[in-house]
Amino acid sequence: MKDFTPLHQAARLSVAPMMDWTDRHCRYLHRLLSREALLYTEMVTAPALVRGGALHLLEFNPQEHPVALQLGGSDPEELAEAARLGAEAGYDEINLNCGCPSDRVQSGAFGAVLMQTPELVADCVAAMRAAVDAEVTVKCRIGVDEQEPEEVLPDFLEKIRAAGCIRVTIHARKAWLQGLSPKENRDIPPLDYDLVHRMKAAFPDLHISINGGITTLAEAKAHLDRGLDGVMVGRAAYHQPADVLCAADPEIYGTGALSDAGDAVRQMLPYIEARLSEGAKLNQITRHMLGLFAGKPGARQWRRKLSEGACRAGAGPDLVQEALAQVETRAAA
Ligand SMILES: Cc1cc2nc3c(=O)[nH]c(=O)nc-3n(C[C@H](O)[C@H](O)[C@H](O)COP(=O)(O)O)c2cc1C
Repeated sequence: MKDFTPLHQAARLSVAPMMDWTDRHCRYLHRLLSREALLYTEMVTAPALVRGGALHLLEFNPQEHPVALQLGGSDPEELAEAARLGAEAGYDEINLNCGCPSDRVQSGAFGAVLMQTPELVADCVAAMRAAVDAEVTVKCRIGVDEQEPEEVLPDFLEKIRAAGCIRVTIHARKAWLQGLSPKENRDIPPLDYDLVHRMKAAFPDLHISINGGITTLAEAKAHLDRGLDGVMVGRAAYHQPADVLCAADPEIYGTGALSDAGDAVRQMLPYIEARLSEGAKLNQITRHMLGLFAGKPGARQWRRKLSEGACRAGAGPDLVQEALAQVETRAAA
């Protein structure tokens, strides 16, 4: 890739779309840890937006930019309309989910099952691109079920590229549509990183991000150094956000300084206050903060104080402040 746009730069490191996890509160926290990384929403289905009118699913804080909306769907017209709603809401990118194997998603004929119909994916991409100026991207697997990844993946990439998608994230394992739970489908099918690297060699003009099983910034850097354009991190970024994101700006983007988990907590306090005044519950926000001090002194007390206290009626930012004071006292001891 020669001509990196700012969004392509941001995509050097991204936090994966994760249902129930990467909601707006989670993304706000991640943004405090890295100014640069690209953040993805949870998957929002096109039918929910277009037929259900669930526009509240698109709400986000302007601080979250650069932020990508992930859509689920398989009807080109409906996806085009959903993309339009997303672009209108201000998302920087609209991503199509071709990797999620859950039953609910299969019954709607979208997610990983779309790996079997690349022509339909190309039609979806083309329709979405025609509807919005924001960049349209795809997140996929290397194949599903009995497919032969060496054969189907290049064909899939070829077809979406012809439809105008020039950035793709590849979760480097197959999905089994029957017999494995979504969770098992994130762990059991073996990872094939080399295949993703071979795709970059075969499609040098595509911006390719790799995903799956990457748990440290050092691993992420190694993939970038080997020639990939981006790395997407999911579970590790959620469970140990400080480990993955605090050094991301200087190390991955060569800008800014190390961020600090304690500072991020302090910056969360006014955000928490504002959301609570709108009716949110403390626990809805603090549940994403439990892993902030993972592996550090006081981590267990931090988790316990927040998980036990945040559900209580009237719990507010004071609880978070107290929990932080405990961690910082432990760290200073
Ligand atoms: C709780 C959870 C929810 C997920 N939801 C989505 C989703 O909505 N859309 C999607 O494309 N992938 C989803 N994924 C898959 C992740 O985006 C990612 O591809 C996968 O976890 C592998 O990356 P990792 O090993 O870095 O976690 C989800 C993963 C988890 C753990």
